[in-house]
Amino acid sequence: MRRIIFNQKGGVGKSSITVNLAAISAAQGHKTLVIDLDVQGNSSHYLGYDINQKSDKTIADLLNQTASWFSMASPTLDYPQPTRYDNLFIIPSSPKLDKLESELERRYKIYKLREALDELEKEYEHIYIDTPPNLNFYTKSGLIAAHKLLIPFDCDSFSQQALINLMDNLAELRDDHNRDLSLEGIVVNMFNAQANFPRQIIESVKELGFPVLEPYLPQSIKMKESHFQQIPLIHFQPKHKLTEHFSALYQQLNAADQAVKS
Ligand SMILES: Nc1ncnc2c1ncn2[C@@H]1O[C@H](COP(=O)(O)OP(=O)(O)O)[C@@H](O)[C@H]1O
Ligand SMILES: [Mg+2]
Repeated sequence: MRRIIFNQKGGVGKSSITVNLAAISAAQGHKTLVIDLDVQGNSSHYLGYDINQKSDKTIADLLNQTASWFSMASPTLDYPQPTRYDNLFIIPSSPKLDKLESELERRYKIYKLREALDELEKEYEHIYIDTPPNLNFYTKSGLIAAHKLLIPFDCDSFSQQALINLMDNLAELRDDHNRDLSLEGIVVNMFNAQANFPRQIIESVKELGFPVLEPYLPQSIKMKESHFQQIPLIHFQPKHKLTEHFSALYQQLNAADQAVKS
């Protein structure tokens, strides 16, 4: 299962949702891999990885490597790094991503991630891909490599327009490069149940035809604390309401995966 989390709007919860769903998946015994395609490296950091350390096993190295006529490229399965948690691995981001972008584009490496995931999927049951807040080369590589798309939505009116633009942009990419990509749903994040406006805007998103997933993830300071401590919610605050909502969302997605398999 390859799931990508994307919205070109920043700060909507892409990295928070990627890491927390992946951590729940791993805690439930599934061998799980996070791929961090954002040069900011927030999900790498959240999982305790310092992207400024010297490493030749980052996502930038994976996308950049080429087998020569005389030597093999290093095996794709060498790239995932363990985290502090059982079953949870990461191919971290790197500051190198910025400089490499135009070169990788020029060398037609847009399918490299998909090829890598074909390999990695033999080892890792669940793969979660975090993305930067724009439709750049890395996001496109991820969208070409993934099967399911989750779009975090933070209940404001700019976000609604962003959703419409996003679907227009994705239609062509899907049609030209990845017919296997489906929109799994909109994840409502930072939901405030006390106010009317978030409910209204969610209704209008539904009326536009978007599949809106439930439950909605509430706004809670525990998220920021969990980032600060670099401990995913399922380990940091297993009984908190936000964690319970994440677990319920995870169950919902997983149940749909199982239904398709059987
Ligand atoms: N449900 C939530 N409640 C409170 N704060 C949240 C929630 N989800 C995300 N945040 C905070 O919002 C900010 C942006 O989240 P992040 O996951 O980094 O978004 P993105 O990856 O889309 O830029 C972070 O400071 C994060 O802690
Ligand atoms: Mg992020």
